[in-house]
Amino acid sequence: MNTSLCPSRIAVLASGRGSNLQCLLDGIASNQLQAEIAGVFSDKPDAPALAKVPAERRWARAPGEFESRPAFDLALADAVAACRPDWIVCAGYMRILGEGFVQRFNGRLINIHPSLLPLHKGLHTHARALQAGDAEHGASVHFVVPELDAGAVIAQARVRVQPDDTAESLAARVLKTEHPLLLATVQLLVAGRITEQAGVIQLDGQSLFSPLRLDSAGTLA
Ligand code: GRF
Repeated sequence: MNTSLCPSRIAVLASGRGSNLQCLLDGIASNQLQAEIAGVFSDKPDAPALAKVPAERRWARAPGEFESRPAFDLALADAVAACRPDWIVCAGYMRILGEGFVQRFNGRLINIHPSLLPLHKGLHTHARALQAGDAEHGASVHFVVPELDAGAVIAQARVRVQPDDTAESLAARVLKTEHPLLLATVQLLVAGRITEQAGVIQLDGQSLFSPLRLDSAGTLA
């Protein structure tokens, strides 16, 4: 938690277009989020997300430049640590983070995943939700643990699956909910209202037995 009067420093990891990063930047610009984006980090040097922050706040290296996966992870972790983040947000970061990275930032590292976890961990979540005949689909913000998409879920946004949905139409509807979901969750984190212990999330000191849910007003309850 950031106990100073300074805005929380957020590092964002992103591999692609960066619409979730943009929603955090918009929240900061409109004073809805008391934070600053201290750095954007990518495994894809041409990721459009990078262009959303000034050059001195960008770090991007291709994993292929490194002799091993741990060597890339260490360089990434050192670069992230150098921007002194209070929180690290994976927002469309498409590379699995190694255990060393996850342990180093344990309790400060979150991810937004496009499914109602624990359903559909990993890739192709929208197609898999359709294939499974799910009536509802959505997005989850969770703490990151070494096991993929398995950390404690803080909050979720739900959408109804429509009979004529394709993976693309469903992805577009889920993405629209990801933005308010991520903003509302990060607001709670930077306010110091969320903690996690042994896989249990607490809000204002009370254990949550199910993830917070985003309502139509963009509020978590
Ligand atoms: C989002 O759907 C996010 O949930 C997933 O990757 C996508 C990233 O979108 N992990 P963007 O780069 O934030 O626009």
